[in-house]
Amino acid sequence: MKNSKLLVISVILAGFFFMAMGHTISNEWIVPDKYKNMKNPYADSDDDYGAELYEIHCASCHGDEGYGDGKKADNLETPMRELGSEEVLAQTDGELYYKSFIGRDEMPNFEKKIDSEEDRWLIVNFMRTLAE
Ligand code: HEC
Repeated sequence: MKNSKLLVISVILAGFFFMAMGHTISNEWIVPDKYKNMKNPYADSDDDYGAELYEIHCASCHGDEGYGDGKKADNLETPMRELGSEEVLAQTDGELYYKSFIGRDEMPNFEKKIDSEEDRWLIVNFMRTLAE
């Protein structure tokens, strides 16, 4: 009797574990190689216009410092990682570019709103300045 209860509990716990795993895996944001390996032609630019563009287009959700505390953040269901965190900035410029301008679900697509390649890369450069 005792053992069968234990077995039921273990099976339920294992179920939750796999559900959580499945969620983590399915939530992975895969960036196509084409983007991942893209070179940032403005990597050495000292133009800080990216800061202004970030403030206009991104801070409403991500917050001024990228903490995810913008005024629209409370209405979002998808958690945002801190843009200045090591995990986020460990990505290539191309990965940041893809996530920022192609987006997915609650992370909007900005291809139309920010249609200049230079502006896009300057925003990527600005995100690098958020490093902690
Ligand atoms: C409407 C709210 C909103 C706006 C505006 C917004 N974002 Fe996001 N952003 C999100 C959400 C939500 C996520 C998490 C998406 C996910 O993980 O599926 C996200 C994720 C990201 C990521 C991925 C970070 C990681 O975890 O690797 C980057 C990079 C990013 N945003 C950059 C930007 C930039 C740059 C702008 C402005 C051009 C911007 N975002 C504007 C909501 C927003």
